[in-house]
Formats: sequence, C-alpha cells, structure tokens
Amino acid sequence: MGFINCVNVSMVSNLINYPLILVNLKSYSETMGAKAEELAEITQKISSDTGIRIGLAPQFTDIQRLKRFEIPIFSQHIDGIFPGAHTGHILAEAVKSSGSVGTILNHSERRMLLSDIESALKRTKEVDLISVVCVNTTNVGMAVAAFDPDIIAIEPPELIGTGIAVSKAKPEIILESVEAIKRINKNVTVLCGAGITCGEDVFSAIKLGSSGVLVASGIVKASNWKNILQEFADAALKAKKDEGTE
Ligand code: G3P
Repeated sequence: MGFINCVNVSMVSNLINYPLILVNLKSYSETMGAKAEELAEITQKISSDTGIRIGLAPQFTDIQRLKRFEIPIFSQHIDGIFPGAHTGHILAEAVKSSGSVGTILNHSERRMLLSDIESALKRTKEVDLISVVCVNTTNVGMAVAAFDPDIIAIEPPELIGTGIAVSKAKPEIILESVEAIKRINKNVTVLCGAGITCGEDVFSAIKLGSSGVLVASGIVKASNWKNILQEFADAALKAKKDEGTE
C-alpha cells in the first residue's frame, strides 16, 4: 500500500508533518529508475524508525514506480494547464494519478513566470496536490506568499550544488524570509535549501526557523544513502526536541 492510500483523509496536506526533509532527485542518473526505488526503500525505513517525514521528488518517469512506498512523492514541476491538447506539458491530474502527493514549482533550474506560478498553483488546489514553490529571494517569496501555496522553499541559487549550506553561509536569509513570508501569509510553511550536506546544516536550518530542508546533491551523491539520511533525520529530530514540539 502506498503513502497516498495509507491514510484515509481527503486533503493531502494532512499527510505531511514537520520538520520535512524533501529530497529532489533532479535529473541525476545516480537516482534514476531502479536506483530511485533503492533510495525510496531506505528512506521509508529511516522515516518510519525516526518519525521524521522524508519525501522524494523523482524524475517524472519514476513517480509511478515509487508510489508503493509509504513516503510522500513529489513531482518536480507541473504546468498550469487543463487536460486536452497540450504537448510536452506536465498535467496536475497526471502526476496525481501516478502517485504524487505534491509538486515543486519554480525551482531555480525550472523557473516560471509569476503568472504561470499562479495558474499552476490554482491547479494544485483543484487537484489537491501539496505545493512547494521555490524562490530565490525574500521578495519573490513575499510575492508568491500572496498566492497561498502550502510551502515556500527559499534557495539562494548561487549555493545550489556547492556543498556550502544556506544555513551556514546565509543564515540571515532564512530568518528574514520566514518572518517576511509569514507576515504576508501566516499559513505558508517555509523550508530552505541549497548546499545542505550534513546533519549540522539541517539542525541549524530548523533552529533558524525553517520547517525543514529541500536537498539534492548532499543525499543523491553521498557514498552511503542510509548513513546520510539517518544523519539528516537524527538532526531534524534533535532540532524538533529542542523546540519542545516533540
Ligand atoms: O532542490 C534542491 C536544491 O536545488 C538544492 O540542491 O544540491 O544544493 O542540495 P543541492
């Protein structure tokens, strides 16, 4: 039984809790096809042992093969289109029926116009997909907050893939964006990402006010997925306990 079927609720946002670790598999060959299933198996075990929610955003073509795992699966993008005559677009209904509970939008590597973010967000609400909108600056985060997404992930593009963590190199952007986004829309959850590679990075991100992390290379390219995911989950748990929410 997959994650989306394991709880009898209609709103998928109820399937997520925080802190959330969301692993974007991008177009990495290390986590494609059968390797994505291997990572999902490890993720499911660590998530169930620690109680920390860990989601995966695989390549579109791997969504279906991951739906049997009891972890939240996210699409890497959708377009603000309706079923019909569109070619080369990603339809909200299609990623949902393949097994996604949510979707990333406006990733730095898949930027969208503000108007396209708005129409894609409308589709996530109609189809009941959790939305994670990436933003490169606090100001863009404030603009997007007005569209009422579920989650905004602040990611300074210059740190993506560098191994230099946003929580170490730019702690002020986490503090500032959480405050500014919540001021516009208190219902939005804020994550951060870019360069997160170890438990300490996860711990500091959460202590700075982020509700979790969006990560890619730090997990995908690690030599031992089990060890690194365990380290991330333990750090998230420690931060959660410190906050007195555990
Ligand atoms: O979507 C996650 C992201 O862009 C951060 O990438 O490789 O710095 O963890 P990375």
